[in-house]
Amino acid sequence: MTALDPGSAAPLARDLGSTANRPPSLAVPAALKAPVLGWDNLWPPAGAGLPAITDMANRSYTTSGRAALLAALRQLALPAGSQVLVPTYHCPTMVAPILRAGLTPAFYPIDADGLPSLDGISHAQAAGARAMFVAHYFGLPKSLHKVQSWCRERGMALVEDCAHSYFGLAGDRPVGQWGDYATASLSKFFPVSEGGLLASATHRITPTGLTAPGWRAQLKAAVDVLEVARRHRRLAGLSHLVAPWGWLKAMAGRTPQAGAGAAAENLPQDEAAMMADCDMGRSEQQISAVTWALHASLPRQRIVQRRRENFAALCGLLQRAAGAAPVAAALPDGAAPYVMPLWVDGEARADAVYAQMRAQSLPVFRWDRIWPGTPADPQDHGQRWNRQLLQLLCHQDLSAADVARLARQTQDILGRC
Ligand SMILES: Cc1ncc(COP(=O)(O)O)c(C=O)c1O
Repeated sequence: MTALDPGSAAPLARDLGSTANRPPSLAVPAALKAPVLGWDNLWPPAGAGLPAITDMANRSYTTSGRAALLAALRQLALPAGSQVLVPTYHCPTMVAPILRAGLTPAFYPIDADGLPSLDGISHAQAAGARAMFVAHYFGLPKSLHKVQSWCRERGMALVEDCAHSYFGLAGDRPVGQWGDYATASLSKFFPVSEGGLLASATHRITPTGLTAPGWRAQLKAAVDVLEVARRHRRLAGLSHLVAPWGWLKAMAGRTPQAGAGAAAENLPQDEAAMMADCDMGRSEQQISAVTWALHASLPRQRIVQRRRENFAALCGLLQRAAGAAPVAAALPDGAAPYVMPLWVDGEARADAVYAQMRAQSLPVFRWDRIWPGTPADPQDHGQRWNRQLLQLLCHQDLSAADVARLARQTQDILGRC
């Protein structure tokens, strides 16, 4: 997804001038909108305690989750123009790879549990499709047993999108092991500016033909990670060691903001603009050395534990919020959540709540940037989720204080709207 502009968050709070003229809720620094490298990432040196997508024998790195989806489609080598089923509840980065691969998206509805509404897929649509993308939304993975059987009966390949579920158990199988291929997004779980993974429990991955990044791209990737950490004061002491940043940054190019999730405000909704924003050209490159090294070496226990703690805290604090409710009643044991989904009553009210949360730079987003041609169906939960479901981040680098503040500000806004 495109960046959420987290780097601008702290300056926003500062630029508002004296705290006396400012609503109290804005008098605090905004929270990190993605994992950011810090010394605390190094401890404890323990494993996740949950299965991960890397447990599969066949793996290949990419620059992003969308690049991994594209790589999965290329592994399948489908005839040009073939249809690929993709949910109506989507981030544009789930659709863009289909077009990039020269294939055709065909949208399917979802049920209240976020699984494909198989009864809502017409015979004609199922007969015409050669592959299906299914996502484990929010990092709360579910068994895909039924979906896998449905795909097999129709000779359709299943691509399990684990962008939100790098870790976990999906029913009685580890995440990623229901699909013919599984894909992951590293930047959602690790402090890296980009990175993705294509994996398969059953198929060897043929060489992906990606181009090795040049020295400039390698340098930029390393500078990006350090610069975002420095900006958020997450690597105390190190910024002094690398004080002559100026020339390094100039050589590397502009540093992106660490972020996850698309902000739809004022963004064009036409296909060309959405394709351009997904920047699929980056998908042709291999990942950088720094992404590879951080992903391979950082301990994982803290990632899983902190996410679970933050999710549970948000759920508890927002349990009785006015006109809103956490979507998941409880956090399953086998989950390392990506976000805490919050349902807001009333479409117009959800718009207002979301706008105010964004205005306060809170770590939240929703998927309201819908790919042109997505059908509108009142039975489809995806259609309601696009507007009324807010995704509150709960990543490991949000402190307990960040989470308490997020819940408090959200409650305030819900109370006002
Ligand atoms: C479900 C899902 N799949 C795929 C992607 C693409 O991941 P990336 O941003 O790493 O390209 C996203 C991005 O947000 C996503 O939410």
